[in-house]
Amino acid sequence: MCGIIGYVGRRTDAGVLVVEGLKRLEYRGYDSWGVACKTEEGIVIRKDVGKISAVNPSDFLQPSSLAMAHTRWATHGGVTPENAHPHVSCDGKVVVVLNGIIENFEELRAELAAKGHRFVSTTDTEVIPHLIEEEMKNEGQRTEDLGQREKENAFPGPRSQVPSPSPDFAAAVRRACLRFEGRFGIVAMHADVPLLVAARTGSPLIVGVAEDGYFIASDTPAFIRSTATVQYLDDGEMVVTDGQSILFSDLRTGEEREKREIAITWSAAESQKGEYEHYMLKEIMEQKQSIARAVNQDIDQIETLARAILDAQGTFLVGCGTAAKACMAAEYFFSVIAGHHVNFAPASEFKLYHRFLKPESLLIAVSQSGETADTLEAMKIAKSKGAKVLAIVNAEGSSIAREADYTLHINAGPERAVASTKALTGQMAVLLLIAYAMIGKLPKGRTRLLETAAAINDMLNPRYTEFIETIAERIQQSSDLYIIGKGWNYPMALESAIKIQEVSYVHAEGFAGGELKHGPIALIEKGTPCIALVGNDEVRTDIVSNAIELKARGGFIIGIAPARNDVFDEWIKVPDVDTAQAIVNIIPIQILAYFLAVKRGKDPDMPRNLAKSVTVK
Ligand code: G6P
Repeated sequence: MCGIIGYVGRRTDAGVLVVEGLKRLEYRGYDSWGVACKTEEGIVIRKDVGKISAVNPSDFLQPSSLAMAHTRWATHGGVTPENAHPHVSCDGKVVVVLNGIIENFEELRAELAAKGHRFVSTTDTEVIPHLIEEEMKNEGQRTEDLGQREKENAFPGPRSQVPSPSPDFAAAVRRACLRFEGRFGIVAMHADVPLLVAARTGSPLIVGVAEDGYFIASDTPAFIRSTATVQYLDDGEMVVTDGQSILFSDLRTGEEREKREIAITWSAAESQKGEYEHYMLKEIMEQKQSIARAVNQDIDQIETLARAILDAQGTFLVGCGTAAKACMAAEYFFSVIAGHHVNFAPASEFKLYHRFLKPESLLIAVSQSGETADTLEAMKIAKSKGAKVLAIVNAEGSSIAREADYTLHINAGPERAVASTKALTGQMAVLLLIAYAMIGKLPKGRTRLLETAAAINDMLNPRYTEFIETIAERIQQSSDLYIIGKGWNYPMALESAIKIQEVSYVHAEGFAGGELKHGPIALIEKGTPCIALVGNDEVRTDIVSNAIELKARGGFIIGIAPARNDVFDEWIKVPDVDTAQAIVNIIPIQILAYFLAVKRGKDPDMPRNLAKSVTVK
């Protein structure tokens, strides 16, 4: 949900740096972009609708050591050049980019308008530079206690080199932030001072510590080519840097905060497309290795967590989108393998579950990005009741990873395509492993999953993807598509629908096979493509019967199954992997969704209206 990057330091190509960095944040939103560079002529801003990928970084070569940029996923205000960030104050000196929502913007806007501020956009963001400007004016007029003011203005390191009125600017940003309601991350700069100032209450901001200066960005890929050393900004903190020194402080009290420098392990190369045309296909193919990496967990930790689930008075699984489907699959893993009841809720629905929570309860939060607002909110609710939180995440150092009591990383490597693929199978692998650990059979679970990883490695060969491409070719003109599953294949049917909808824009719906007769079967006409997800398990006969019912109404049946069946018009063979069947059955669907998107002329990596990291509720 919007990507932000800022740089201040010794380099004189700050404009190029932030544009290049922003291109690696485009998965966070891509409806419009904007760049602000502090140059000898003052602050130069360029912004427009469209994707940052289409912008040439060399257009930003003018000498600059302080710049910031933004790629937008619209929340408040349509997709127009005026609504693109950065936004500026009346005097044009305060420049701001935002990720998140200022919930009380209407009230602030009316207050500022009454004081003579003029607004040119319909965004919530625009109140920020105006309020900072107002706070700076107030500061100039105030005759308050100088001691207190000195404290607010404190800036470490080469303070003497920071020209006036830089301290006032940072203090004004802080005071303005205290008036905002909502979850946000902002980065601000001022035409008269060489500072980057940032604050966070909810939306992620990470500092990149480079040899020649500092970056502040929504995510590490933005600056990974310059540095792998980071410092995390926590909620309720702000940071001020002039490129040589950096000061973290508590947003509310102004008190200085110590920060550790952390070395991150994801290399820049891992987030490149390489030989693939799209990230989505690359990430699907990476499942040849990523499932084995997910399984490579600390045995003692998995056993401890399995015990924690067994001991908890109420275990709740939450996630959003695709991660929510991993949680649903885990309900079946825990039931079928471990005979243990857990509760699933989409994280956005968890608010009403708080009455079930006790200090002895456990919340399992599943997330690829580790930044999803609804999942973070569910964690907050659980913590407020004293319950413990286990996070299963992909992104290292993410908010969910840091705020949980226990964290397991799925080690899938960066996932850039908006449609989640390898993160899902990694999440399911870890959850399945835990289910085995709950019955004291962790080694069996590991072996099952490693065999599954090997089978996927064999399955994902060029002939296999080409075959699925021919099926995509055949059904690409269909306006509707239905997917059925039973048991752990039921959440995979729901996930199949998400995957197909989000990248190809074909209307797709997933159902529990047994529910067909209660309504959905009325939608089936001659030739309607229907996909049956089948395993070699106790519910195989049921789902095959459901496929026969669909065929009797004219459905064109595509079976994804370890064994051929007469009801299938097309059969996509998958390995027979017993309890891990849901993990392999979803992979042909990911490939099918990819080819449907490409054949229909859509960009599978950046589907319309979506963003990879949903940091607003
Ligand atoms: C967005 C993404 C999905 C993802 C969901 C949850 O909608 O497009 O791919 O499943 O957010 O994200 P998370 O990072 O928490 O897994």
